[in-house]
This record gives sequence, C-alpha cells and structure tokens, in this order.
Amino acid sequence: MNNVDTVIHFAAESHVDRSILDPQVFVQTNIMGTQVLLESAKKHNVKRFHHISTDEVFGSLKLGANDKFSEETAYDPRSPYSASKASSDHLVRAYFHTFNLPVTITNCSNNFGPFQDPEKFIPRMVTNLLTGQKVKVYGDGLYVRDWLFVEDHCRAIDLVVHKGEVGQTYCVGGQTEDLTNLDLTKKILKIMNLDETNIEFVTDRPGHDRRYAVNWSKINTDLGWSPSDSVDNRLKETVNWYKENENWWRPLKEKSESIYQK
Ligand code: TYD
Repeated sequence: MNNVDTVIHFAAESHVDRSILDPQVFVQTNIMGTQVLLESAKKHNVKRFHHISTDEVFGSLKLGANDKFSEETAYDPRSPYSASKASSDHLVRAYFHTFNLPVTITNCSNNFGPFQDPEKFIPRMVTNLLTGQKVKVYGDGLYVRDWLFVEDHCRAIDLVVHKGEVGQTYCVGGQTEDLTNLDLTKKILKIMNLDETNIEFVTDRPGHDRRYAVNWSKINTDLGWSPSDSVDNRLKETVNWYKENENWWRPLKEKSESIYQK
C-alpha cells in the first residue's frame, strides 16, 4: 500500500452456501484478511479505506412485514458468511475510532448483472436454463431479496468514496417492492420464453434468512444516489449477457455446481 491513496476493499468469500459447507475460509479471508488490509492502510497513511459489506449483517426480516434495514439497524448475522462480514465491519469501525483511519462502509443488498459467478441465484438459474436444466428453488421459494444491479452499486461506491463522510456507513439497495425468489424465477422464465415446468423445488438451505429489504434513503438524501432502471429491464440485460457470453461462464459452471452435490 505504499503510495496508495484509496483502498476499495471488495475482497471476500461471498457465498452463503459455501460458508455453510466450509466456514473456516470465511473467517480467514473476511475477518483476518480485512484486519491485514486495515493494518497496512494504517501503516501507509492511506487517505481513504472503503469497505464493501452486505445487508446480511442485519439478519432476517419477517415475510409480509414493511420494515427495512437501515444504518441504525442492530447487527444480527445468522450465517457463517454474514457473521464474518459483520465482524469485518466492526474491525473497520474499530480502526476508525481507535487509530483515526479514514474509513467509509457501504452495506449493499443482493447484486446481479454481468460477470457474476454462476454459483449465485440469478446466474445459476439462467445458466441452468441455458444448459437444459431446471431452476433449483430452495424450500417454498417465498424468500425475499432486494435486488441491486451491479453498475448501480458501483456508482454508489464511487459517490461514497468521493463525496461520502469519513466514519459513515451508507446502505445501498435496489428495487423497493418485495419480490420472492419464486416470482423472480417466473420473471426469468418469461424473459427466456420458458414455462414453469422448468422449476424444481429442492431442499432448503439451513438457517435460510427469510427476507431482506434495504432503506437507502440516507445515500439518496446525502449523495443523490438512486437505482437507475427497473429490475425488469436489468434482468433482461443480464439474461442477454449470459446468452452472449457462454465462453466466460462455461468454465466456471461445473465448479460452481459441484458445491450443490455435497
Ligand atoms: P444467493 O444468490 O445465494 O444470495 P444470498 O443467499 O446471499 O441472498 O441466493 C439468493 C436467494 O435465492 C436466497 O434466498 C437463496 C435462494 N437460492 C435458490 O432458491 N436456489 C439457488 O439455486 C440458489 C443459489 C439460491
């Protein structure tokens, strides 16, 4: 980090299902790894350390309720993944308060878009369908996520890094209407002109968080950020990208599917 002025810390183990199969590597990368970066940033007087985190640190909301996570919500992580991210957030704040390291944090909702590993739900579903397999919907499919297009997320990070206030946290979310995994699956099937016989309900994830929703009014009010287009349009773009870029995802597909056989 010699002569580095800004660090944007994206590096993480990020998949909940993998954290259930092997929690240790999440502790190693997300907690220990973050502390290593913080220490180096402190040593080299980095001018800004921006930490990318997740809404999953706040735990799980009730299905059908109206409440949302915000910067004020108490931490209540429930998977090895979210517990490791919560821990890293605490370390980042500790370096701010104890050592005056100029930090900012963003807690984002579920990302989607081009170049996402096919282990994650949307690319897994699209690449399954493109290879003649069914969409694997966990449990009853009535789980809610707040979907954020990757470029909107990147715009939010850019704003916080350039205009955000040091020591502050900003929540970044996507569309504000609750959308269940099952309804999301139906949207993708429709975009791909396929019917609902392509849905397969499979065993649920242990400890599966029911609902995430993010109140992003702070970053909207303070920095003028908002999502740039509808989820429907962004889903169409994303499906097209996977259709046109099989050479990118094909080598990753077998490896990403192997975890689901365990
Ligand atoms: P995922 O992309 O793993 O993100 P996260 O667990 O961090 O929210 O999963 C998004 C949602 O989709 C989550 O409720 C689990 C569910 N899911 C399925 O129903 N089937 C799948 O094949 C996958 C990967 C996820």
